[in-house]
Amino acid sequence: MSQSPTTASTGGSTVVGRDDHLQGAEDAVLRVDELVAGYLPGVNILNGTDLYAAPGELVGIIGPNGAGKSTLLKAMFGLVKVREGSVTLRGEEITGLKANKLVSKGVGFVPQNNNVFPSLTIEENMQMGCYQAPKKFKERFGVVTDLFPTLGERRSQRAGSLSGGERQMVAMGRALMMDPSVLLLDEPSAGLSPAKQDEVFLRTREINATGVSVVMVEQNARRCLQICDRGYVLDQGRNAYTGAGRALANDPKVIELYLGTLGKVD
Ligand SMILES: Nc1ncnc2c1ncn2[C@@H]1O[C@H](COP(=O)(O)OP(=O)(O)OP(=O)(O)O)[C@@H](O)[C@H]1O
Ligand SMILES: [Mg+2]
Repeated sequence: MSQSPTTASTGGSTVVGRDDHLQGAEDAVLRVDELVAGYLPGVNILNGTDLYAAPGELVGIIGPNGAGKSTLLKAMFGLVKVREGSVTLRGEEITGLKANKLVSKGVGFVPQNNNVFPSLTIEENMQMGCYQAPKKFKERFGVVTDLFPTLGERRSQRAGSLSGGERQMVAMGRALMMDPSVLLLDEPSAGLSPAKQDEVFLRTREINATGVSVVMVEQNARRCLQICDRGYVLDQGRNAYTGAGRALANDPKVIELYLGTLGKVD
């Protein structure tokens, strides 16, 4: 797919265009501009990625394994060094700021792996979530357990003994303890049964409905595009497509390249 400097229609959704990004990102809560980042010297994983989340938006990121989806979230959260480009939170440049600073500015992150403290109880995991503001604990624990009642009922259980779905709730709950305005979720439904996946998507929608902007990477591309307001297809560290979630899900090129033939609509 050649990169187009302006937006070109591909049957419902759009090939990424920088002009559209600049226009859409103007009032964004969180935006990423022409991000270049990587791990090894001379090897860039992100090759000029643009992305934004408007206030209250649920943004999905899909793409093949190794495309750089996790790297993008980690770079936004100060966990991977940014080589070029910028990350901006409500107009303030936050490129390269450390995770604890970002948490205090209202960014929450749930990583793809190792996202709970297994030897700590659920309640202690929640305390870790707001260690920067322990006075908030009681109020926020109430909010989080309203959303995930199981976490309240099992508060004394060690996170390591929970099921995959329950652990995911702990990880999301912990990220919510600081009352973030933006939540970054990396593959929250991975490894879960279909029923638990449904629950994760439902909870994500509920969190989003309270006004939290969400940027979600998902391996369940179809479901992700169904629930998100806008989606991005990331391929080799570049945005390949972007558009409304449903438009992307019905785009013949996106279906052919990223969703598989089973996804074809009649
Ligand atoms: N810590 C690291 N050191 C070196 N290379 C890394 C590191 N983490 C990731 N990479 C490489 O960066 C590339 C992108 O990885 P990333 O985890 O961002 O992909 P992804 O799109 O999240 O894939 P997946 O769908 O499998 O989670 C891959 O080629 C990967 O091998
Ligand atoms: Mg990943």
